[in-house]
Amino acid sequence: MTEHRKTAQTLRSSRWFAPDDLRAFGHRSRAMQMGYDKEDWDGKPIIAILNTWSDAQPCHAHFKHRVEDVKRGVFQAGGFPLELPALSLSESLLKPTTMLYRNMLAMEVEELLRGHPIDGTVLMGGCDKTTPGLIMGAVSAGYPMIYLPAGPMLRGNYRGETLGSGSDSWKYWDERRAGAIDADEWQAVEAGIARSYGHCMTMGTASTMTAIAEAMGLTLPGASSIPAADANHIRMSTRCGRRIVEMVWEDLTPNKIVTRDAVDNAISVAMALGCSTNAVIHLIAMARRAGVKLTLDDLDAAGRTVPVIANIRPSGKTYLMEDFYYAGGLRALMARLREKLNLDAPTVSGNPLGAGFEDARVNNDDVIKTLDDPIYPEGSLAVLRGNLAPDGAVIKPAACDPRFYNHEGPALVFDSYPDMKVQIDDPDLDVTADTVLVLRYAGPQGGPGMPEWGMLPIPQKLLKAGVRDMVRLSDARMSGTSYGACILHAAPEAYIGGPLALVRTGDRIRLDLPKRTIDMLVDETELAKRRAAWNAPPRRYERGYGYMFSKHIRQANEGCDFDFLETDFGKAVAEPDIF
Ligand code: FES
Repeated sequence: MTEHRKTAQTLRSSRWFAPDDLRAFGHRSRAMQMGYDKEDWDGKPIIAILNTWSDAQPCHAHFKHRVEDVKRGVFQAGGFPLELPALSLSESLLKPTTMLYRNMLAMEVEELLRGHPIDGTVLMGGCDKTTPGLIMGAVSAGYPMIYLPAGPMLRGNYRGETLGSGSDSWKYWDERRAGAIDADEWQAVEAGIARSYGHCMTMGTASTMTAIAEAMGLTLPGASSIPAADANHIRMSTRCGRRIVEMVWEDLTPNKIVTRDAVDNAISVAMALGCSTNAVIHLIAMARRAGVKLTLDDLDAAGRTVPVIANIRPSGKTYLMEDFYYAGGLRALMARLREKLNLDAPTVSGNPLGAGFEDARVNNDDVIKTLDDPIYPEGSLAVLRGNLAPDGAVIKPAACDPRFYNHEGPALVFDSYPDMKVQIDDPDLDVTADTVLVLRYAGPQGGPGMPEWGMLPIPQKLLKAGVRDMVRLSDARMSGTSYGACILHAAPEAYIGGPLALVRTGDRIRLDLPKRTIDMLVDETELAKRRAAWNAPPRRYERGYGYMFSKHIRQANEGCDFDFLETDFGKAVAEPDIF
């Protein structure tokens, strides 16, 4: 432990509990109402445990019990734990999309922490948007915090065959639509694909974001790779409880950890993992909360120099997060990636990042490859620009068929998901394997909330002919567990008049991945005519959270944060008055 910077008298919570006045009397007497005594809180760091458990969140089912393990650690280290529930953001159950509510969680976290007598925080999350939402809010709040990742679920199983969450849902659904498997087989897949608590065990958004949290220095070393059902996860949770108490005394606040170096480490690790495309949006938003001006160009530059070395599906062919853990996990991967990392970046452990994997070793070279023999020579993401996406779009080259790296084909345009759904399986649909499927009005404002619709289904008649990938373009996102030649996050989105709104069925579209371009081959005079004739769609929300969302949401290339939540928006918020 490093030296104490805080004393009992300078703990933030002492403002609530120490004074000899009427208000502090109220705080103490109400703590006593819960059965606590002065000995419980006096001179002790009060630790919020922000728990995203709910009955509607299967990925965090174990958090109901795991929170007790965290409390055990807090007590061991002489702190006083308070569990505070926070939005659980179930990726599988919450509609229209959890992305609509990521910023709501971030706001909740910031205000929960600021408004309560809290000295430090353990953030319990894992399912996709919970990681960025919790971290964004806690970084803005600015108090010592540690991230406790939920851990991946165990491998799926179907008749002895390994199943990956998400990835195999898309794969077997295509097989079902192609008539290759029947209803009974489909049901067996359904029962075997998610067989324990924990987040998705492919390298989807959840595994990507928890690894990013670790590479940013916000978890204990190795924490993000431990399967949720492994007893090591319980011990790690208790260590989080112990460590946050020390962090409070050390006054180790997130602004000392989430620096440019830490963000660069997170980017390199994300690329080496074959990360989810969603990482782009969340990384930009998280970095900006810490005052680091990350752009799409920074991510593309990293994408050109960091190879994919984690052989985990969907970028890899065979393995899942459980295999990754047995192969050495993120510590072993970072040891292989050492030359691309800022080893001195501070972490919540109190030690620099490099110290966390000094003794790590790779146990299976087929799961964690070397930089000289990667599964994909460049990083997992590329940023495209052109007259279809002047502010950028994103593609995952490692997860798409290389024959599409240079592609030209006619557009088939859908203005909504329901419109696409009624047409896509029409046997008379005018489509070939060269067609570029376009879905628009599905961005941050249009979706609303930029749903994961970007992995448009392959038309049934092509599936039956054996086609399993084609170029797809949208202003939506796609699930991190998905794969294919999907161009996503086109910005600005169609709903606010981005050029995607101007493309018409039959227009030629050209993708040139080496040159990083995406264009419609339509001349500027014609585009100007279409632009003049375009009518903005009606505003989607006239009241409620959606109204605020549509007024303040930024575009995908800017991280989809609310403008008023970004760090440089206005004066910093003061500590609450206590009268
Ligand atoms: Fe929760 Fe995939 S549904 S991580």
